[in-house]
Amino acid sequence: MTESYGTLSPTPRLLLGPGPSQIAPRVLRACATPLLGYLDPEYLTLMDQTQTLLRTVFQTENAWTMCVPGTGMAGMEAALINAFEPGDDIVICVNGVFGERMVNVAQRAGARVTRVDAEWGTAVQPDQVSEALRGVKAKVVAIVHAETSTGVLQPLEEISRVVHEAGALLLVDCVTSLGGIPVEVDARGIDIAYSGTQKCLGAPPSLAPLTMSAAAVEAFQARKTPVQSFYLDAGEIWRYWGPERAYHQTGMINMLYALREALLIIQEEGLEARFARHRQNQQALIAGLEAMGLQPAVADPALRLPSLTTVLVPDGADDQAVRGGLIAKYGIEIGGGMGKYAGKAWRIGLMGYGSQRSNVMLLLSALGDLLKNERVDEGLAAASAAYTA
Ligand SMILES: Cc1ncc(COP(=O)(O)O)c(C=O)c1O
Repeated sequence: MTESYGTLSPTPRLLLGPGPSQIAPRVLRACATPLLGYLDPEYLTLMDQTQTLLRTVFQTENAWTMCVPGTGMAGMEAALINAFEPGDDIVICVNGVFGERMVNVAQRAGARVTRVDAEWGTAVQPDQVSEALRGVKAKVVAIVHAETSTGVLQPLEEISRVVHEAGALLLVDCVTSLGGIPVEVDARGIDIAYSGTQKCLGAPPSLAPLTMSAAAVEAFQARKTPVQSFYLDAGEIWRYWGPERAYHQTGMINMLYALREALLIIQEEGLEARFARHRQNQQALIAGLEAMGLQPAVADPALRLPSLTTVLVPDGADDQAVRGGLIAKYGIEIGGGMGKYAGKAWRIGLMGYGSQRSNVMLLLSALGDLLKNERVDEGLAAASAAYTA
């Protein structure tokens, strides 16, 4: 006898963690639109539109702008393994879990990795990168723009200059920044950038937008060895996304519908307005938390990510009990700390559709309740004032 599992009916949650983030009902409806074949002319038009919208959000004119099938990690693997060949030197900046992941991925793929480490909660400094590049003729320098494990926003301009002076390519993880924070691929001279759909872009997980500059494409085409993964070979993916329209893998049909819808929402809102909204909600959240006596984990306000705030678990509070209480009593998910921050910090995401004043106020109230925080009214007042400042 087969057990009856019932219909699919997940309990509603407010996703205010490190991702996936809240999704606009319009985007969910787009997922439920009937399938087309992956080479249907109508579907190809939708791919073209998605590509154009992605260029806008990446702030680039790069021809090679496409989606790697898979989540942000597929983007990371693809970006790295297409950028170097086994035995090449590469510099990787590490100030959190995702920089560490890049090292792991690059070493498995046979790169000779030189690390540039910075303290968690701080940014990598350009002179550290310069020094590393004096010691090694690197083909690529890889760095995370928005370190989701620490909540640090990495400044890129000066590092980009240093990298290009040394004749290397700049590869940037934009998983937690694209669609919420300016990425400015062209203006900042980023050669390879990848992201994920489930954070500030506001779509479900499963696609990894990737863009490559003319210099990155030229380096790719000059490779002496094929990329060891057929599935993640940017040249093969481009044969499907580019003019050739060759079969590479079955298109992620419904997920592309969702991403296109999410990108249309971004277009309607306007990039500048969207960036300002993310910044304003983050500032209100931090003002509220600080007024309640909580402390952001990133000391320098200029380095705090608009899309993800790390806050130290206050003395005497039980990390898991508070996060469990948020789910059980309020249906709110926030993230626990990762790596060095495990048990020590919470990660609060205000990304895409989830970056809203109502969510900020609700979360502050819920945290105030669970922490039995006597200053919750001050917290709400400070957050509210941040909207009128
Ligand atoms: C900065 C960063 N890079 C890469 C990833 C990997 O993305 P995914 O979990 O979608 O595979 C994440 C996921 O949180 C991330 O935050």
